[in-house]
Amino acid sequence: MRIVRTLTVYCESFGCQMNAYDTDGIGALLEGCGHRIVGSPDAADCIIVNTCSVREHAEQRAIGRLLDLSRHREAVIVVCGCMAQRMGARLFDLVPAVKVVAGTDSYFLLPEAISNAVDNGERSVFIELGGSSVIETMPEKHEGPVSRYVAITRGCENYCSYCIVPYLRGKVRSRSVRSIMEEVDGLAESGAREVTLLGQNVIAFRDGSIGFGELARKVLDETPIRRLRFLTSHPRDVGADVFELMAAEKRFCSHIHLPVQAGSNRILEAMNRGYSRETYLAKVRMARSIVPDIAITTDIIVGFPSETDADFRETIDLVREAGFDAAFTFQYSPRSGTAASLLADDVPAETKKERLHALNSVVMEKRANMLGAQVGATAEILLDGAAQKGEYRFLKGRTPQFRNVLVPRENLREGDMVLVVLRRLANFTFEGEVVAER
Ligand code: SAH
Ligand code: SF4
Ligand code: F3S
Repeated sequence: MRIVRTLTVYCESFGCQMNAYDTDGIGALLEGCGHRIVGSPDAADCIIVNTCSVREHAEQRAIGRLLDLSRHREAVIVVCGCMAQRMGARLFDLVPAVKVVAGTDSYFLLPEAISNAVDNGERSVFIELGGSSVIETMPEKHEGPVSRYVAITRGCENYCSYCIVPYLRGKVRSRSVRSIMEEVDGLAESGAREVTLLGQNVIAFRDGSIGFGELARKVLDETPIRRLRFLTSHPRDVGADVFELMAAEKRFCSHIHLPVQAGSNRILEAMNRGYSRETYLAKVRMARSIVPDIAITTDIIVGFPSETDADFRETIDLVREAGFDAAFTFQYSPRSGTAASLLADDVPAETKKERLHALNSVVMEKRANMLGAQVGATAEILLDGAAQKGEYRFLKGRTPQFRNVLVPRENLREGDMVLVVLRRLANFTFEGEVVAER
């Protein structure tokens, strides 16, 4: 590939952790070609926006942002990610300033497409799915924060009836164990202390005889990483082996994100989730019996087609019973092409809003209870950044359960691990008193 000159490139990421990871990879790829990543769109030669399509609102935000960025007239605007995959060339009409549209498996084509756009004003669209080169050889960025993501699978074949992801990310492809290990090693060498293994459903990972449990064990045994996390696991697939490893290995953090989506069996069935409320709650009990200090977080959708007040009450009851540390809650948004989009979106907008509101207050009440019970406890935290913009007296850390803790900065630094007593809880964040450094 012939690089004519060094371009300044600004990247922005919407959507999930997989997108954040891909955005870093795209940045590293372009840096590898001699370009320079900059922190602001002002004066950038190229602006890359990695987008999300999971709900209509996510797309509206991305379009709004692209229109806003279009005022940088000299810059070549590139749209990547799920909305690029879904809309393809239609994006040229929606946002005329866009020059390159690159779907979820085409990032390797970006350097050349960007050069062509900058040099000749050429437009291009790449939305073919199934490319495997992306997944093995996406270059990682060897600097930056202490907590990093590593994708282990791409794609999803679960076809939950509401979800657009399988159509935009393609079939499940697992990365090779070797390239995952190399990436984790590289990140550890460059200062990462914690790694989160990423996949739409990490439990679907398989490379020969190695499944997710074996992979996690290998990362713990054979890399110097101090903490391991994972995101997301499907409640139907996660088994005792993962929890047993968590119980045995302190570095395998006691936290699982286990999206339940709904509490009524009729709705779960219509969502094609592959488990019932009873089997979900049985998994929660299994998790807590094997890993007594585990924190469980979840995702929930309200207002799925035909959801009645009684169905919704079952979701509320489930939230009370399961004891989540936190929940991401969403109003159902029909996505064209999904099975659920053929059903009438018959829960009125007002009802969806009310249900979301009611759900959030129960989620918050439970969250306060779950966290409140920890006041006075001792926890090991990894310091992963400044507390807040402008608040330099404190550093922020996370417990293995992914709970937020602030500690006085004093002589501590990002990347340190310290033992703290959780003294006070305010805005769902603990104040920690450091009792030992690790
Ligand atoms: N792969 C992950 C996350 C998928 S998207 C998983 O399977 O858990 C993240 C969350 O967005 C989902 O868990 C779901 O709660 C929500 N979501 C997905 N599609 C949606 C839709 N059409 N409307 C509203 N929320 C949706
Ligand atoms: Fe979407 Fe379901 Fe796959 Fe998650 S498991 S990405 S919700 S289809
Ligand atoms: Fe969004 Fe695509 Fe992630 S739709 S949630 S960016 S997989």
